[in-house]
Amino acid sequence: MKKTVVIYKSTSGFTKKYAEWIAQSLNCDLLNRKQANLKKILDYDIIIYGGSLHAVGISGVDIISKNLPSLKEKTIVIFATGASPARPEIPSVVLNRNFTSDQQKQITFFYLRGGFDFNKLDLVNKALMTLMKWKIKSKKEWDSDDKGMMAAFSNPIDFTDKDNLKELLEFVRSKQ
Ligand SMILES: Cc1cc2nc3c(=O)[nH]c(=O)nc-3n(C[C@H](O)[C@H](O)[C@H](O)COP(=O)(O)O)c2cc1C
Repeated sequence: MKKTVVIYKSTSGFTKKYAEWIAQSLNCDLLNRKQANLKKILDYDIIIYGGSLHAVGISGVDIISKNLPSLKEKTIVIFATGASPARPEIPSVVLNRNFTSDQQKQITFFYLRGGFDFNKLDLVNKALMTLMKWKIKSKKEWDSDDKGMMAAFSNPIDFTDKDNLKELLEFVRSKQ
């Protein structure tokens, strides 16, 4: 059995929930991004990293992207959570925004729909999201994402679902 770890960075808890479900399902170690460093993760054969999307960037993923040359022999799985529905184009958009084409060859990526809870954000993210709210408000027409986002400001949404993990878990088990 290969040694496996899940590392996560989560602002309002959605990514944390998925990370905990993965660690329970695989019976493996779980580390918060703050607890993780290269020395620690080199101890594992399979490294799963999860972070929430902030303007398409995967939060905290530099721990993987900066260290990919040292992780050549490892299986690297990245997952990102976002408020957007799991559209088919999301994986390539997120991968291209976060990794070079060479880096992408070293990782396997999954997008998991998270949720949105304005009240659980820190001050910086509250400010950023307030700017986004104004931006949407100023649009002449709202698409379905705009409508969903505006509704989520007053009512938190949670799309986390264990079923969303099926493919990721199957992939990791095939490597164990
Ligand atoms: C500043 C900011 C930017 C965001 N940008 C995106 C985005 O580009 N795409 C998306 O789907 N969700 C975006 N979201 C929503 C979060 O990714 C979503 O709420 C995520 O599930 C939060 O996970 P967490 O609670 O683990 O941090 C953004 C949220 C914030 C606060």
